[in-house]
Parts: sequence; C-alpha cells; structure tokens
Amino acid sequence: MLDEKMKVVDNLCIAKDTWKMTLVGRQITEEMKAGQFINLQIEGKTLRRPISVSSFDGGMASVTIIYKIVGEGTQKMSEMKVGEEIDVLGPLGNGFPIEKVASALLIGGGAGVAPLVQLARDLKAVGAQVKAVIGFPTAADVYGVSELEALGADVVVSTDDGSKGFKGNVMEAIKDKDLTGDVVYACGPVPMLKGVEGGFDRGYISLDIRMACGMGACMACVVKDKENPEKYYRVCKEGPVFAIGQVEL
Ligand SMILES: Cc1cc2nc3c(=O)[nH]c(=O)nc-3n(C[C@H](O)[C@H](O)[C@H](O)COP(=O)(O)OP(=O)(O)OC[C@H]3O[C@@H](n4cnc5c(N)ncnc54)[C@H](O)[C@@H]3O)c2cc1C
Ligand code: FES
Repeated sequence: MLDEKMKVVDNLCIAKDTWKMTLVGRQITEEMKAGQFINLQIEGKTLRRPISVSSFDGGMASVTIIYKIVGEGTQKMSEMKVGEEIDVLGPLGNGFPIEKVASALLIGGGAGVAPLVQLARDLKAVGAQVKAVIGFPTAADVYGVSELEALGADVVVSTDDGSKGFKGNVMEAIKDKDLTGDVVYACGPVPMLKGVEGGFDRGYISLDIRMACGMGACMACVVKDKENPEKYYRVCKEGPVFAIGQVEL
C-alpha cells in the first residue's frame, strides 16, 4: 500500500450526480487489481473516502474512478479541477480473483458498476466471454455501457422504471433473459447481493459498507462468517470481495 499525491487529469459528469475522475501518480498502480479500492483524503474531512478502482493503466500510473455525489466529500471531489492534487492511499482490499473460465457473468448495481470495468478487461485477457447486467433507478443514472462494450462485453441494462433497457432489477433481467456464466461477479447494494446469492452459488460479491480507517485497524467494517458466528472479516482488509456464501449479508 502506498500514500501518494495524485494529480487530477480528468473529472467529468457522466450521468446524473455521477462523475468520472482520472488520477495520475507514480507507483500506486504497480500492485493494483480489479475490485480493490483507493482511499481519498478530501479537504476538510477527517475520514478518507473509499472509492473502487474502476480501471487503471499501469504504464501511465493512472487510476480512473467513478463516483456518485451523495454528500459533502463526493460533492467536493466533483469540484476538483484538472491539475489539482489529492492524497490517495492504496491499493486497498483484496480484489476479484480472476478465474480462467469460458464465460463470466458480471452483475452491477448503481455505484457497483464502476469496478466491473477493470474486471471485464482482466477476464477478457484470460479468454472469458463476458456478459454484464447493470442496473440503475432510471435512464438518467445509466453509465458504464460504452466502457464495457468497448472491452467486448455483452451488456444488458435494467432500470427500475423501464426508462432504459429492461424494466425491473438486475435479477429479474437475468431471469428474463436466462443469463448465466461459469462464474458470477457482483457489486452493488446489499439487497442486490442477497438476490445474487439466492440465484447463484459459484462466484464473488463485493461489499460496499461504511468504513472508517479503511486499512484494517478500527474494526468499523466487520461482517460475520455465514457458517461460524464467532468468525469476523474486516471488509476493508479481508474484503471487499468475498466468495458467494462466505459472509452474512
Ligand atoms: C470499498 C468501497 C468502495 C466504494 N466504491 C465506490 C465507488 O466506486 N463509487 C461510489 O460512488 N461510491 C463508492 N463507495 C461509497 C463511497 O465511499 C461513499 O459514497 C462516500 O464515502 C460518501 O462520502 P460523502 O462525504 O460524499 O458522503 P457522507 O456525507 O459521508 O454520506 C452521505 C450519505 O451517503 C451515505 N453513505 C456514505 N458512505 C456510504 C457507503 N459506503 N455505503 C452506503 N452509503 C454510504 C451516508 O450514510 C449518508 O446518507 C464505496 C465504498 C466502499 C466502502
Ligand atoms: S474500516 Fe477500519 S477496520 Fe475496516
């Protein structure tokens, strides 16, 4: 893990309250994996803000993140200008294991679509056929389609109100279109992850829960093992990616 000052080289609004920022550093991408996150020090905030790596470029030492404005910290991020610097800790967490399979089904909801971009790239690199089902409340919230399609993924969009793509949630879209894969990877809100665990038994989920230190020291982010109630995992350290069925949701 490194602590670097990174420079903003891009910060654009790509959907409703949703921004895409690219940061350039020196070495932070060297050990980076899809599904890991970075912790950003935002001016005026004591606690860092964890944001998933959406994609990275090792050669350029650049990291792209996609974030939704939900409060003061993410609002301040959206106001950052090209050339400004931000203190970044990372990469953090364990990331998605890249399985050498014939086909993979990626499932994302809202902010959880962001980390699927690098994941799709890495799965394509090992020869997997990649299908992605990504869900949002409404058409104005949709992002990530062009990024995933550019990587060769087949993308299905679902919206709760039917204003774009399939009308319904991602699990309903998967059932309707009879989508499957040798392994499933999912990232999104807990109700969506519960649906994924109800429908699939082989794969991985990535948890987005409130964190404090983000590096395993404070125990603010623990979840219980599904089988053994005495066993805990720190989402920031042993996660955020867990095998389907590993933790109590
Ligand atoms: C491992 C990890 C990866 C993440 N990746 C992304 C990402 O790629 N893109 C993205 O947009 N967001 C992501 N998040 C969520 C992001 O960290 C929060 O939205 C952000 O910290 C909010 O900061 P804020 O100061 O704007 O809002 P705050 O003022 O801190 O909070 C505003 C509102 O958002 C809620 N909130 C804050 N954090 C979370 C959270 N983690 N989960 C659910 N609700 C929360 C609060 O309860 C409150 O209602 C991730 C979180 C984790 C733990
Ligand atoms: S946030 Fe402190 S241990 Fe995970």
